[in-house]
Amino acid sequence: TNDVDTLGQSLNQSVTQLITSITQIIGVLVMMLSISLPLTGVTVLTLPAAAIILAVMIHFSQPYFREQQQVLGAVNGIIEEDFAGQNVIQVFDRAEASIEEFDRQNDRLFISGWRSQFLSGLMMPLMSLVGNMGYVGVVVVGAQLALTGNATPGDIQSFIQYVRNFTQPVQQLGNVSNTMQSMAAATERVFEFLAAPEEEQKADAQIPEKRPGHVEFDHVKFGYTPDKTIIHDFSCEAQPGQTIAIVGPTGAGKTTLIKLLQRFYDVDGGSLRVEGIDVRDWDRAALRGEFAMVLQDTWLFNGTIRENIRYGRPDASDAEVEAAARAARCDHFIHTLAGGYDFMINEEGTNLSQGQRQLVTIARAILADRPALILDEATSNVDTRTEELIQRAMDALMQGRTSFVIAHRLSTIRNADVILVIRDGDIVEKGTHDELLAQGGFYADLYNSQFDEAA
Ligand SMILES: Nc1ncnc2c1ncn2[C@@H]1O[C@H](COP(=O)(O)OP(=O)(O)OP(=O)(O)O)[C@@H](O)[C@H]1O
Ligand SMILES: [Mg+2]
Repeated sequence: TNDVDTLGQSLNQSVTQLITSITQIIGVLVMMLSISLPLTGVTVLTLPAAAIILAVMIHFSQPYFREQQQVLGAVNGIIEEDFAGQNVIQVFDRAEASIEEFDRQNDRLFISGWRSQFLSGLMMPLMSLVGNMGYVGVVVVGAQLALTGNATPGDIQSFIQYVRNFTQPVQQLGNVSNTMQSMAAATERVFEFLAAPEEEQKADAQIPEKRPGHVEFDHVKFGYTPDKTIIHDFSCEAQPGQTIAIVGPTGAGKTTLIKLLQRFYDVDGGSLRVEGIDVRDWDRAALRGEFAMVLQDTWLFNGTIRENIRYGRPDASDAEVEAAARAARCDHFIHTLAGGYDFMINEEGTNLSQGQRQLVTIARAILADRPALILDEATSNVDTRTEELIQRAMDALMQGRTSFVIAHRLSTIRNADVILVIRDGDIVEKGTHDELLAQGGFYADLYNSQFDEAA
């Protein structure tokens, strides 16, 4: 943001300045030539001197300008991070440490700031010096010319005026170079960001006509970094309308599978097919339009509850929004809020409880009405009674839709068609709830431990 600001401001200020100065130099040069060639020559001789000074100063000060923009970004980052994490900082008594870190970065900013400003501040007096030397040269040579009768005193008088008009824009150019330098530093950073690779899309990307909701993982292998594989060899097929539950310990790779399904990352080996087409051949937007999701971390934006629920289907009527909210069991609490459906959710969504936020995202997914559904710990923050109520609504929603459900509370996935138990990215058990219980393996252990706790 800083860099774009700097870029905008400098373009505003310096480019006009640049154009005026250059135009003025050219105009004055023409007038000077019309008066006296030798005197013009003397004046123009100052230009290379000015250029050399400019080049040297830019060479030495540019690294500081670059550092200044970079540290400015870091300082703003710290401010934002500390502001968002105020509570945690206070709870862990880290206020002092945060202030120290801020001071450290701020000092760096101060140092690079004053160095760059000091060096470019030298530019103005140096340019004056060069300008005044030209002035002296003109007076000396002009006096000679007048003595030999090659110029009239009037010519010299007017020439001296022009020399002033000539050196003034040259000095201004030196001045502008200061702004131009911070602009150059900011531009580098802006373009570095713009040059980041975009999600590429095949030219002949496909959008299938029929979307029953068929998903197949075929020997999928994946790791976020090349040196650490998370998913080793994952195969599973979801028939249209089936509910696939994925359970497993924290960090097993459940969310990773979902990210692959949405093609936020590409598989390293094997393939992943949705509706029989490899996800890499899909049109990205169409692929993402295939799924409605409720994710582990809720995301609501600054707007009314109604707008938030309508997010996945902007043309839904108010009645449809409210029906979805009723299905997600958030109708009740919405009515207790000031303004009901027009209650404004603040920027971080912190004026709703975690569970309430989850219910709103569930209502959003219900309303979106997509061929397939992804629920990643969708009810993890909701009390067990509400969860059970939502479960019934979900069952209705999942009817005829392929669903992937990730849940730690196993009571919610008992009715799934297939339960996949994964550990360290591999399927260790697979079957229905009853089959897995009968097997007496990892799943049975997990289920019984939860059951014992509940009892
Ligand atoms: N963006 C990422 N970059 C690198 N590694 C990651 C990234 N996201 C997750 N991981 C790693 O991948 C592994 C699996 O993470 P994943 O989020 O899939 O777990 P999970 O099964 O969803 O766990 P949980 O039950 O806690 O949600 C973890 O070891 C994690 O450290
Ligand atoms: Mg997860």
